[in-house]
Parts: sequence; C-alpha cells; structure tokens
Amino acid sequence: MEKELYNKLLKFFTFLSKCLSIKDPNTSVVHLADISRDLMEADRCSIFLHDSEQGVLYTYYAHGVDKIVIPDDSGIAGYCFRTGEIVNLDDAYKDPRFNRESDRVHNYRTKSLLAVPLRTPQGKTIGVFEALNKKTAPAFTEDDILIAQNICLYSASVLEGMILYEQLKRSQKEVIIRLSNATKFKDKETRNHIIRVGLYTEVMARALGWDEESVELIKLAAPMHDIGKVGVPDAILQKPDKLTPEEWIIMKKHTVYGYDILKDSESRLLQIAALVALEHHEKWDGSGYPYGKRGEEISIYGRMTALADVFDALTSDRPYKKAWDLEAAKSLITKLSGVDFDPELVEIFNQNFDEFARIKETYKDQEVEISED
Ligand code: C2E
Ligand code: SIN
Ligand code: SIN
Ligand code: SIN
Ligand code: SIN
Ligand code: FE
Ligand code: FE
Repeated sequence: MEKELYNKLLKFFTFLSKCLSIKDPNTSVVHLADISRDLMEADRCSIFLHDSEQGVLYTYYAHGVDKIVIPDDSGIAGYCFRTGEIVNLDDAYKDPRFNRESDRVHNYRTKSLLAVPLRTPQGKTIGVFEALNKKTAPAFTEDDILIAQNICLYSASVLEGMILYEQLKRSQKEVIIRLSNATKFKDKETRNHIIRVGLYTEVMARALGWDEESVELIKLAAPMHDIGKVGVPDAILQKPDKLTPEEWIIMKKHTVYGYDILKDSESRLLQIAALVALEHHEKWDGSGYPYGKRGEEISIYGRMTALADVFDALTSDRPYKKAWDLEAAKSLITKLSGVDFDPELVEIFNQNFDEFARIKETYKDQEVEISED
C-alpha cells in the first residue's frame, strides 16, 4: 500500500522534473519591440497578449505607457485579434473601430497604425502586435508589414513558451500544495500546518534579506518536508502513545523517503524540497537524524524548516500530545538555541515572534471532517 503510493510519487516527480527543465524565456521579445520600432520607423510599438479568463487584451510590452488593458472585442487590436486580419490605417481616428481610451489616458494622438496578429506556428492567435505613428511617412508600408509579420511569428513562439511556462509554474504550485496535503490524510496533520510552516520560513527568509525569488522557493519547499511520511505505516503515524524503539526507527526514515522522492528533479524548487525533507530533523549540535549533521553542514533550508516545524508541532495537537501555548513554545525554542537550532534563526524567531503568532492565529486549526477532496 505505502509502496504503491511511493512509486506513484516517484513517477510523478520524474515527469514533473522533465517539464520543469524548460528554461525561463529571456527578454528577447522586449528587444524585438525596440528593434521593430527602429526598423519600421514607428513612434511606438505594443505587444498585446490575450487573457482568455478575463476576456481582455493587455500589453505585455509597450513603449511609453505602463499597461493598457482593453476588452478583447474592442478597438483595432480586438478586431485584429478576433479576425486575424492585418489592419493598416493612415488615420486611426477615422476608423470607428479604434478605441481612443488609451490615447486619452496617455495624452497621445495615434495617427497611423499597423496591427498584426500574433500567431503561433501552429496557427493559434495569442495576441496582437501594434506599431503606432510612422515617423517618416503618412502610413506604414508593405515592407513594414513584412517586417511586422516576421517579428510576430518569432514573438508568438517565444511568448507562447512564456505563457506555457507561467501556466506550468501555476500548476506546479498547485501540485505542491496538493502533495503536501496528501500527508495530512495519513498524519492527521492539517492543511493549515503545511501552510503555516511555509509562512514561518517566509518570515525568516525576509529577515535574512533574501530576494523575492529565494523567499518564494523556501516558502514552497518547506511545506513538503514530511512528504516521506507516505512511506510510514498509518499504525505508527497515528499511534496515540509513545513509539517503541522499532517503530521509532521506521518513523525516522520519513526523512530519507522524502529525499528519495524529490532528489532527482532538475527543478531548483524540488531540489531544495529534497534537502528540506532530508534535513528537517537534523539538529545544530549534531544530535539529530538521519545523519547527525551539525551546524552549517545542515543547509539553511533544513535549519529554517526545523525551527518552523517544531514551533508549529509544539503549538498544535498531535495524536500523541496536546498543544502547548505559544509562550511555552517560545521559551523552549529559545532554550534550544545553539543546541537544536541555528542561533541566528532563533534570534530572528524572537525578533519576529509577533508575526509567528499572527500566522498561527490566522491559520489556526479547525475541527473539520477530513474528506477525500
Ligand atoms: P511532529 O508531531 O510533527 O513533530 C515534529 C517535531 O516537533 C518533533 O520531531 C519534535 O522535534 C518536535 N515536537 C513535537 N512535539 C513535541 C513535544 O511535545 N515536545 C518536544 N520537546 N518536541 C516536540 P521528532 O521528535 O523527530 O518527531 C518526528 C515525528 O515523529 C513527529 O512529527 C511525529 O509524527 C512522530 N512522533 C514523535 N514522537 C512521537 C510519539 O511519541 N508518538 C507518536 N505516535 N509519534 C511520534
Ligand atoms: C491602443 O491604443 O494601442 C489600442 C487601441 C486600439 O487598438 O484600438
Ligand atoms: C502551502 O503550501 O499551502 C503554502 C504555500 C503558499 O502559501 O503559497
Ligand atoms: C539569497 O541569499 O537571496 C538566497 C539564498 C539561497 O537561495 O541559497
Ligand atoms: C514531522 O512532522 O516530521 C514530524 C515532524 C515533522 O513534521 O517533521
Ligand atoms: Fe518530519
Ligand atoms: Fe511537520
């Protein structure tokens, strides 16, 4: 039973890691917008992308303006998007389809306008390219259209990759939350425990001055620390009493099980999660498990998650114990500075204790029926 779930997870992550090795697309689209403005002698260029959920076209990139959002059935851009037709005007204001709203907001006067659909090589229209106000002639020329078409063909491929990548990241996030939650069915740990552990590490990461991306990584990785518990029998996990020495040996394996599930991914997030799973029960003085690593032999991710997890375990009910009050947990963690925990992190914990308490209160456990979804 346990073995089956374990193997499924293993397969799943192998698949996931293949998807995730797609590289983050670069800023070539921005450069293309600049180059096309020069080549076409336009005053401005805009790249509109379609958001099908909102039913709008929004500027992915536009010269001279922050962001334009228009309904996808409005304006020249909307017309071009829906019909796939190229529109080339010498005076936009003479065309009733033109949407003057953006001109009004940006105090701009569009005269000549060229709109070309952004179509992927597979023929899917994902947005619109617009060039505004030809500087050297009253309107854009046949050559300009040719340039624009080529730019669109290339941009559409890159942008489609980018859109897919964003979707992938969104679904990856969701998968992580669902997977982290999978342990709760076995462990009676709550969804909120998983969320809180991520949020505590976020507080620590910010206090350490990490950049946004690194903060996000640990916030998403920390909740996966106990994924290896899928390999531990329920009879042990849910035992209302102390574990026997034999049971304890099995319980401690949840660290290496988790590591094995996550370790082979090329995704940085899952690599960090693997470390977190392996190291979250290691202790600063070397008395933890599975390897008795000490001090900075334990990754910063493992050290952060250890503190977050113990604080949350102490202040929560478990099958084998009742919740402690926050102050009692605070003083134990303080006492264990330099013993179980990285002293620098304990200091951060104490300095930001109000935030830890606020997270605990905001995401407090409720007595809810555990259902299959
Ligand atoms: P958990 O319940 O999520 O606890 C996580 C960690 O929080 C524990 O890691 C421990 O470091 C700390 N912790 C939790 N409750 C207490 C407490 O009352 N006092 C102190 N001093 N520390 C506490 P640890 O010990 O490595 O345990 C790992 C996991 O093993 C636990 O996760 C739990 O699932 C299981 N476990 C530990 N002890 C028992 C037990 O006596 N009975 C049962 N059924 N399971 C246990
Ligand atoms: C724009 O101001 O660039 C959009 C207006 C339109 O396409 O009608
Ligand atoms: C969670 O895994 O549920 C917490 C992560 C997040 O808040 O995005
Ligand atoms: C940072 O210092 O911003 C990140 C640390 C890390 O990712 O290892
Ligand atoms: C535990 O939940 O590992 C047991 C303790 C834990 O959450 O790390
Ligand atoms: Fe654990
Ligand atoms: Fe935990």
